Amino acid sequence: MNSQPSAPATPPPLLRVQELAKTYIRRGSFTQPGARVQAVKGVSFSIEAGSTLGLAGSSGCGKSTVARCIGRIERPDEGKILFDGHNLAALSFRELRPFRPAIQMVFQDAATAMNPSFSAADIIAEPLLIQGIGTAEERAGRVRQAMQEAGLPAEWSGRAAHDFSGGQRQRLTLARALVLKPKLLVLDEPLTGLDVSTRAQIANLLLAVQAAHGIAYLFISHDLFLLGHLADRIAVMSEGQLVEEGPTSQIMARPQHAETRKLLAASGRQLAPAGAGR
Ligand SMILES: Nc1ncnc2c1ncn2[C@@H]1O[C@H](COP(=O)(O)OP(=O)(O)O)[C@@H](O)[C@H]1O
Ligand SMILES: [Mg+2]
Repeated sequence: MNSQPSAPATPPPLLRVQELAKTYIRRGSFTQPGARVQAVKGVSFSIEAGSTLGLAGSSGCGKSTVARCIGRIERPDEGKILFDGHNLAALSFRELRPFRPAIQMVFQDAATAMNPSFSAADIIAEPLLIQGIGTAEERAGRVRQAMQEAGLPAEWSGRAAHDFSGGQRQRLTLARALVLKPKLLVLDEPLTGLDVSTRAQIANLLLAVQAAHGIAYLFISHDLFLLGHLADRIAVMSEGQLVEEGPTSQIMARPQHAETRKLLAASGRQLAPAGAGR
């Protein structure tokens, strides 16, 4: 044994993002050269196991780019993505394979990527098949459990995805992510486009799933009020950078940055005419 002082009392965070940067080259034309778009620059944050970080910001500020880099759908240009002590930013696609089940993504329009004629059970089982997990019987058991957790009745397992409503399809997407027993769910505007009561139901379901399994969430939304309900901490982005980060109660009660105040005012407006748009 060495003579190091005793280990720190708090465990390291599940995810630590350090100085993340990503630039896109927007395609040019005959008259205009391609432009560089610095979508994300110098973004750093951490997520503790089992907790929720809300990532807020107006459209185009770089939220989805952060999500895609963490899920390693894209490779960041710079920075570290430390997950369980491994820097995912530095890994090749082959090296990433064993980490894939642990980080699952849920997008707003994820269901559009599903084969609409597949049954719910087939859609949920597909990631298990791709990962080569379990026997047919074990997979069926995990599909049943995932459906239950996502609030889908067991009788619907044979139903085709095109017979599901928008909210039910988002539950299907969630079941498909949960079936892999992830440690981190990256939810990119998962409730946008759903009606108010469906949003509330799925938000409560996400809280229950987290309480049951200790899954960490990176929950992306432009709606700070929603994040106020779901998140332990909130980070706010503007033009590719983090401008504010802190405990949810602090961000909601004493927003420091103009962008945070703007988002708060906008989500307040959305609440006022509840159901008025119908
Ligand atoms: N594949 C891409 N090619 C070029 N530019 C992109 C690409 N994806 C995103 N961008 C640009 O990067 C910026 C951030 O986009 P995004 O991460 O989608 O923001 P958000 O999710 O906050 O709306 C925007 O200016 C967007 O137009
Ligand atoms: Mg986005």
